[in-house]
Amino acid sequence: MAKMYYEKDCDISYLDGKKIAIIGYGSQGHAHALNLKDSGCDVCVGLRQGSKNWANAEKAGLQVKTIEEAAQWGDIVMILINDEVQADVYKKSIAPYMTEGKALAFAHGFNIRYQQIVPPKGVDVFMAAPKGPGHTVRSTYVNGKGVPCLVAVEQNATGDAYKIALAYIVGIGGARAGVMETTFHDETETDLFGEQAVLCGGVVELMKCGFETLVEAGYEPENAYFECIHEMKLIIDLINKGGVAAMNYSISDTAEFGEYVSGPRVLPYEETKKNMKAVLNDIQDGTFAGRWIAENKSFGRTFFNSKRAQLAKHQMEIVGEELRRNMIWGGDKDLDTASN
Ligand SMILES: NC(=O)c1ccc[n+]([C@@H]2O[C@H](COP(=O)([O-])OP(=O)(O)OC[C@H]3O[C@@H](n4cnc5c(N)ncnc54)[C@H](OP(=O)(O)O)[C@@H]3O)[C@@H](O)[C@H]2O)c1
Repeated sequence: MAKMYYEKDCDISYLDGKKIAIIGYGSQGHAHALNLKDSGCDVCVGLRQGSKNWANAEKAGLQVKTIEEAAQWGDIVMILINDEVQADVYKKSIAPYMTEGKALAFAHGFNIRYQQIVPPKGVDVFMAAPKGPGHTVRSTYVNGKGVPCLVAVEQNATGDAYKIALAYIVGIGGARAGVMETTFHDETETDLFGEQAVLCGGVVELMKCGFETLVEAGYEPENAYFECIHEMKLIIDLINKGGVAAMNYSISDTAEFGEYVSGPRVLPYEETKKNMKAVLNDIQDGTFAGRWIAENKSFGRTFFNSKRAQLAKHQMEIVGEELRRNMIWGGDKDLDTASN
């Protein structure tokens, strides 16, 4: 059984007197900074000179410094910028200030797991990783709830790293929902696997393939969008609330029968499992990480950008945009309500 922690198991006073520097003000950065501030912590945001988010963070009542100043100021330095730029930014602007007794924190283990960042021995290295998008970390906190988090400690130089990490997670609201103890190694590999094989890669390919099958067979793209894409969230919401049983309770027996008959036809178990194992293997042996690092460092993101542009032009995106815009509530433009 995984070791779980809740608010009663944590003590936010481990943050008393500690200055927390949040590097980055994107999806996770704004949520961590604002939640910690609202939890009474001493927070600042570290941004690059000329950042478009500088004014946003100040407007939200946060003190903002350059990344170097924030790293120097903070006792806890949480890195919440894109994973692929973290190593360069760390080396140039953060490492010089990681003196003994401080803590370096992450919301995902990529750069530690693949040794892109090697922190000095005298600092604590912990992870407070919400299992949800940053905008939801903020919106659930404001509503008195929270997003479940993973906690991990890579280096426990002070002896208090776990207590500080758990206190931090209380500060961002995660301990209200539950905190699971893990390692940087396992969080990185399971997170990459989940998003590639199931949540993002798997789901998008499944929806796209379903959409194209119906459209190519002569059905209206709008119908294909409602059927294979829009309804995905409604179905997932049921599973999220009460497991597959809740979905099966709510759908018709015809749909449930079709689930058993056609699900394994669409995703042949042995073949899909073999492919999933190959994806996992690439994550475990560093092949995927190497490819992603090279895509950024050597290939100017050519593959990434062309795929993104190609997807934006896909009929399912164009039809979906139009349908969502015409819904009486104008679609769910607020990312806080997104299902991911
Ligand atoms: N997104 C999620 O839902 C999610 C969930 C769990 C964990 N995580 C993890 O959380 C961390 C942050 O992810 P995120 O999605 O929140 O990031 P994000 O929104 O893409 O981060 C944007 C921030 O990074 C800054 N930034 C980008 N490139 C930079 C550079 N070269 N130099 C300095 N600053 C730079 C941006 O600066 P400007 O303000 O100047 O543009 C901005 O403040 C990652 O480790 C990620 O794996 C994310």
